[in-house]
Amino acid sequence: MSNYHIKHLEEYYQVYRKSVSEPENFWEEIAEEHFMWRKKWDKVLSWDFSKPEIKWFEGAKLNITENCIDRHLATRGQKTAIIFEPNDPKEAAEHITYNHLHKRVNQFANVLKSQGVKKGDRVCVYLPMIPELAISVLACARIGAIHSVVFAGFSATALSTRINDSDCKIVITSDGSYRGAKTIDLKGIVDEALESCEGVASVLVVKRIHSDIHMESGRDHWLQPLLDGASTACDPEIMDAEDPLFILYTSGSTGKPKGMVHTTAGYMVYTAYTFKNVFQYKENDVYWCTADIGWITGHSYIVYGPLANGATTVMFEGVPSYPDFGRFWEVVEKHKVTQFYTAPTAIRALAKQGMGFVEKYDLTSLKVLGSVGEPINEGAWHWYNDNIGKKKSPIVDTWWQTETGGIMITPIPFVTPTKPTYATLPFIGIQPTLMDENGKEITGNQVEGRLCIIFPWPSMARTIWGNHQRYKDTYFSAYENKYFTGDGALRDEVGYYRITGRVDDVIIVSGHNLGTATIEDAVNEHPAVAESAIVGFPHDIKGNALYGYVILKDTGESRDQNNLRKEINQIITEHIGPIAKLDKIQFTSGLPKTRSGKIMRRILRKIAHKDTSNLGDTSTLLNPEVLKDIMENVP
Ligand code: PRX
Repeated sequence: MSNYHIKHLEEYYQVYRKSVSEPENFWEEIAEEHFMWRKKWDKVLSWDFSKPEIKWFEGAKLNITENCIDRHLATRGQKTAIIFEPNDPKEAAEHITYNHLHKRVNQFANVLKSQGVKKGDRVCVYLPMIPELAISVLACARIGAIHSVVFAGFSATALSTRINDSDCKIVITSDGSYRGAKTIDLKGIVDEALESCEGVASVLVVKRIHSDIHMESGRDHWLQPLLDGASTACDPEIMDAEDPLFILYTSGSTGKPKGMVHTTAGYMVYTAYTFKNVFQYKENDVYWCTADIGWITGHSYIVYGPLANGATTVMFEGVPSYPDFGRFWEVVEKHKVTQFYTAPTAIRALAKQGMGFVEKYDLTSLKVLGSVGEPINEGAWHWYNDNIGKKKSPIVDTWWQTETGGIMITPIPFVTPTKPTYATLPFIGIQPTLMDENGKEITGNQVEGRLCIIFPWPSMARTIWGNHQRYKDTYFSAYENKYFTGDGALRDEVGYYRITGRVDDVIIVSGHNLGTATIEDAVNEHPAVAESAIVGFPHDIKGNALYGYVILKDTGESRDQNNLRKEINQIITEHIGPIAKLDKIQFTSGLPKTRSGKIMRRILRKIAHKDTSNLGDTSTLLNPEVLKDIMENVP
C-alpha cells in the first residue's frame, strides 16, 4: 500500500485513520519518501492553538524550487512543465520544459539579486497570467524572498495597501495585460499605486502588450535586457522549514485585508500530496486549473502542487468568453487536458450559453473535473457532470481557503462516491467538526453547524503578516482550541460535508472573497454618502451579488440617483476593483440598528433576498420605523 497515492475507498479509510491516529508518523513518512531535503527535521510537529503557534518539520532545511524543478531534471528535463495558452487563440501556445523553467527561474532569481533583493525581503508581483508570473514566484522562492502576488484585477488603492502592509521593496509588473478583446494598463495602475508607496525602490516591467508606457528613470527597468545579461545558474537559498514562502492577502469581515503567511515545508508537502490524490495525477497527464495565480488556488494548484509532482500545468491568460464561449473547451481539445479545475461561477456562465459551444470540441481526454471557490449548486453540478464529464469524469468539489493553503474537504476521484453539492469527506489528515453558536460540538450525523478544524495540518497559514493578534482573534478565538473557518456546513447521514456558505461578513462573489467593511469604506468616500451597509443576495451566475443600502447626506439638494449609483460603483472600482461593484443600490433614510449602534445585517440580508415574511426578532432595534421605509423602496 502506498500512502502517497490512494486508489480505492478502503485504502482511503485506512490511510485516513492512520493520518489522524498517528499524524506525526504519517506526515513524516510522506515527507521522507517524496521530497528532497537538505537536512531532515528534528521534530515533525509542535502546536498550540491557544497562542496560536504551529510548526511542521522544524529544523528541516530545503528549497521548494529544488523540489519543484531541480529534482525533476534528470528524468523529466525535456518534459513540459508549463503550457502557456495566450489570450488570443491565434497566438501560439508556449511549452516550457523543466529544463527551460530551471534556466528561466535562475535568470530571474539572479535579476532579483542584482536589484538588491535578499532572503526574507518582500516582493510584490502584479502580473497577468503570463509565464513570468509563475517564473517570478519561483524566482523569489529560489532566493528565499517572500512573494506577495496581488491579483492584477485589483485597483491602484488596493495594490498600494498591500504593498505597504508588507513593506515590499520591489514590484514586478507588465506594460499591460490582455483580457478578452480589451487591454488593461497595468503599469499605469502600478504608477498610481506607487505614489503612496515610499518603500519601493525598483519596478521590473515585462513587455507583454507593447504599449507606450511611462518608465520612471532610476526606478523602472524593462525585465528582458536584465534577464539577457543574467546567468542561468543560481544556487538555491537553503531555507528553514518554517521560513515564510509567501504572503497572500484575503478579505476579512472587518478592516484591511489580511496578509496570510504561508511557510515552506508543510505547505510544499501538503499541496503536493493533495494535488497527486485529488486529481489522481499520472505522469503523462495535462492538468489545467483556470484560476489566476493571484489567488490561492493558483499558488497551490497551478504552481507549487503540480510542479512538485513533475506535472504539466496549463496557464491560461484569457477569459472563458473570448473569442466566444467555447474557449475553455477549445483549450481542452487543443492540449488534450486530462484534469480540468474551475469555479462554479464559470460553469454557470457557460451552461447558460447552451451546448453549441461544447459540442464543437472533443473532450474525450478529460478524466477528472474539479470545482472550487464557492458552493456548487445542483444545476451547475449536473450540467458539468453530464455535458463536460459525460458522466464518466468524477467531479471533485474541493472545499478549502486561502488560510488552509491546500484542499481540505473533497472527494478523491474514482475513490469517493460523489454526491451533487457535497464536498464529501475530509482529506487525509484533516479533522473537521461542527460547532453550535454556543460553543458546543455537534456530534452525530444529519446535523448542521459552524465548520471548525480541531488538529493542525501541514499547509495551514501560520500568522497574519504584522498582526499575530488578529490571526488569533479571527481563527482561534471563536472556539477554544479549534481553527474556525468562517463557514457553515452540514453533515449528512453518511458523514459527507456540504458547505452552506459564510457565516460572517465575507461575501463570495463569482468565487472571490469580498469583505463588506472594505466595500462600505469605499462607498462612504463618496461626498454625498453618509453611511452604507452591504449585504449579499443570490445571483444566477455569480452565486452572490452585492446589495448596498446607502444613506445620503442631507444637503437639501436633490440628486440624480442613477448618476449617484454610477459614481458609487466608480469609487468602488478605484478602491478595490471592478469585482466589488454593487449590483443593486437602494437609497434609504436609515439603517436598522441595535441599541448599541450595530447595523442589523441579518434583516438587511433578508430584505435583499426578498424574504420579508419573517424578519425575526426586531424588538431590539433602536429605529424599527426605518424598516417600513426600506421595504417600500426596494429597487
Ligand atoms: O466559503 C468558502 C468558499 O470560499 C471561501 C474561501 O475563499 P478563498 O480564501 O478565496 O479561497 C478560495 C479557493 C480555495 C471558503 O471559506 N469555498 C471555497 N471552496 C468551496 C467553498 N464553498 C463551498 N464549496 C467549495 N468547494
